[in-house]
Amino acid sequence: MLNEVTEPGETGRDSLGSAPSTHRSPDKVNADYKFGRLLGEGAYAVVRLAYKKSEGKNYAAKIYDKAKLFDEHRRNSVCREVMLMQKLKHESVVEFSEAFETDHHVYLIMEYVSGKSLHDYLKRQRASPSNKTEFDQTLSETESKRIVKQLLQCLHYLHDQGITHRDIKLENILLDQKNNIKIIDFGFSTRYKPQKKLKLFCGTPSYMAPEIVSRIEYLGPPADIWATGVLLFCLLNGFFPFKGQTDAELYRKINRGSFKLIRSDLSDDCLTVLKEMFNVNPESRLSAAELLQENWFLSDSSKKRSISEIRREFKAKILKKFPVRPVNKNTFCITAP
Ligand SMILES: Nc1ncnc2c1ncn2[C@@H]1O[C@H](COP(=O)(O)OP(=O)(O)OP(=O)(O)O)[C@@H](O)[C@H]1O
Ligand SMILES: [Mg+2]
Repeated sequence: MLNEVTEPGETGRDSLGSAPSTHRSPDKVNADYKFGRLLGEGAYAVVRLAYKKSEGKNYAAKIYDKAKLFDEHRRNSVCREVMLMQKLKHESVVEFSEAFETDHHVYLIMEYVSGKSLHDYLKRQRASPSNKTEFDQTLSETESKRIVKQLLQCLHYLHDQGITHRDIKLENILLDQKNNIKIIDFGFSTRYKPQKKLKLFCGTPSYMAPEIVSRIEYLGPPADIWATGVLLFCLLNGFFPFKGQTDAELYRKINRGSFKLIRSDLSDDCLTVLKEMFNVNPESRLSAAELLQENWFLSDSSKKRSISEIRREFKAKILKKFPVRPVNKNTFCITAP
């Protein structure tokens, strides 16, 4: 299956060149790896800890059951996931190691990320019966900004490579030991050509952009930005911005794009970023690169400081250590102690 060396696009097939033979016997797989505890489970795959004996190192193995991949669409997306992961190299993308298949399974071996997903991070305390929100805790504005900035930097990289993730959500962002993010699960990801719209209706309902729920053709990157807005909202508030008893109700609210915050302590710069991400018009929704230029993301050190600010700082921090004699408005003479 992995030897089908094309990356099936949604419209046409992009050749990716030839892939090495990837078939292995189950005995060879078990000789190479010792499989450990379950790290996660989805509809088509399980993820297990995999100890590579030759390296003495732990990896994560995403193991697809071929029996569940009966429809062509699914098989294509597994091929695409492997092909895309092979190409990606970024500190915030989980690192690909190798992929192979047996008669019954496809194995995607990748870097093992030992921390929790953002979803588990927000759920880490036991929910109290009085807790009416989806998550048990929220993050500070500063911590949310740090995480979302890393996510946008990574999306900027992906979009620059012509790749859209299409399933940005709390469960698909893991935290490493230093609490830095790693994006996983490229199962819905695809390559796109600039301005060529996509058709596949996919993603996770609460994170879907208006253009997706309206089932019109859409561009991938703006939809990733909308999903990032949902994620940021959840980090700050502990619940989803758009909710409905039915999908139809949820989609109506997404299309309206209006959201309510319960926190009143958020800065104006933060609110501006949320509003830009929840722009219902994908054509004018800011890109990852543009959002990173918003005030909220510019650290104090990268903000342009005014001359008077620099002068004030100079006087306060340095001159106060020495006896100084003003010569004129801009010149001081430091008197030797
Ligand atoms: N590299 C990894 N290191 C540690 N844990 C991982 C890693 N990759 C995945 N996991 C765990 O496994 C879970 C499921 O992984 P993933 O999101 O790739 O599969 P999935 O959601 O089942 O995929 P799909 O949506 O394609 O069915 C993750 O939420 C995470 O908890
Ligand atoms: Mg997932």
